[in-house]
Amino acid sequence: MKATAIILAAGEGTRMNSDMPKVAHEVLGVSIIEHVVAAAQAAGVERVVVVTGHKADVVEALLPGLEFARQNEQHGTGHAVMCALEAVGELAGPVVILAGDVPLIRPETISSLVETAASTKAACVVLSARFPDPTGYGRIIRDASGQVTGITEHKDLPAELLGMDECNVGSYCFDGAALSAHLHRLEASNAQAEYYLTDLVALFASEGLGVRAVITDDVDESHGVNSRVQLAEVTRVLQRRINERHMLAGVTMISPESTWIAPGVTLGRDVILEPMTFLMGEVSVGDRAHLGPNTRITDSTIGADARVDSSILLGADVGVGASVGPVAYLRPGAVLAARAKAGTCVEIKNSIVGENSKVPHLSYIGDATIGSGVNVGAGTITCNYDGVAKHRTIIEDGVFIGSDTMLVAPVRIGEGAITGAGSAIARDVPAGALGIERTEQRNVTGFAERRRKQTKRDE
Ligand code: UD1
Ligand code: CA
Repeated sequence: MKATAIILAAGEGTRMNSDMPKVAHEVLGVSIIEHVVAAAQAAGVERVVVVTGHKADVVEALLPGLEFARQNEQHGTGHAVMCALEAVGELAGPVVILAGDVPLIRPETISSLVETAASTKAACVVLSARFPDPTGYGRIIRDASGQVTGITEHKDLPAELLGMDECNVGSYCFDGAALSAHLHRLEASNAQAEYYLTDLVALFASEGLGVRAVITDDVDESHGVNSRVQLAEVTRVLQRRINERHMLAGVTMISPESTWIAPGVTLGRDVILEPMTFLMGEVSVGDRAHLGPNTRITDSTIGADARVDSSILLGADVGVGASVGPVAYLRPGAVLAARAKAGTCVEIKNSIVGENSKVPHLSYIGDATIGSGVNVGAGTITCNYDGVAKHRTIIEDGVFIGSDTMLVAPVRIGEGAITGAGSAIARDVPAGALGIERTEQRNVTGFAERRRKQTKRDE
């Protein structure tokens, strides 16, 4: 689509009561402004210009590679667009203008604004919605024949018109040439002493340039975020939208209300999600994987038929048929190969656990390479850090690590070797050998009986 999008994101968002700019707040792990940019890009817009001002550096850092226009003082939405044109020059062709604080706007809605502008030759197409409570919104004014003649801000509305409920959502498609030609005619003679972009509508209408309003059938998509209450509402709506899409595609959710999935998550067929499952960032889940309850997975890959129960996974890669939890913690660089297991109270970081290898109970595995068919006994710890640097532990195929082994890295356990329970293994164990480090056990005959008698006498 040969269109430019101008996204307005210079405002402060006072009602958020936040040190962060409003559009940097997140909805399901993605900032509000990134949602809007993604929608514009998904609609096929060729060029995106974001107007920034309040805490501009924070907002711009969220959007690497985009074009920005600075609006250092915020004198209204019309002024914001003036700043955009100053920065990028006059624009020809369709110019989509979007509010940066409306995260649920859908790509198909943006496309429909552009298509309506093309098919009707309108110089401006406005997206409108009928809100049960229109308070605060600008209202679409139509003449007796239904033609749009202007937009009046709530604060400038005479009392008898307050009941009008067709609201301006703040998303438009302008003809670039008409926009460039008329923008300088805006005046700040209104209740807020701001340059209103919306005043262009009446200007266009009086000049005989076509103006249309497209009423959205999805009222939810047009809600701006002005407070944390609205942030929570918008999050709920997006949660429902995303969860329904996955359920319709073949995912079972035991409790969709308590399942939270970010937009960048892909789920296979017949995946089952138990209550209180959170999938954030970029997560991809294979067919028939079964996740949760009480599980948080961020930026990870989960293979088909894997099982993850009551665990936290950050930057992990879980193989086909692998098993995680209950209560495992997989940190960045944790890789479980096919059918591997990270069991109860196991923490794994920057390590590979080979095919069919098991770390079933109470272990810390950091900076290790574990081959296939390895059994790591309960309570095993890789001592990977000497206080200065991290070192690797290598465990070759078919090794049996006894319970409560301390593997003092750097150390290598050769293929098929065994370590004795309770050993601190600080030197390499050759293939096929037993590595054991333990003081001799002494049994003192009759000791227990003698102590019991002694204790009785003392009483
Ligand atoms: C605007 C519309 C109103 C519409 C409402 C929908 C105008 C004059 N009014 O009002 O008709 O019903 O949106 O939510 O356009 N912004 C800037 N620079 C500025 C002012 C605003 O970048 O100088 C940005 C804000 O950061 C925000 C967006 O523009 O992302 C909308 O601004 P906001 O102040 O929320 O507009 P409203 O007064 O709500
Ligand atoms: Ca305002």
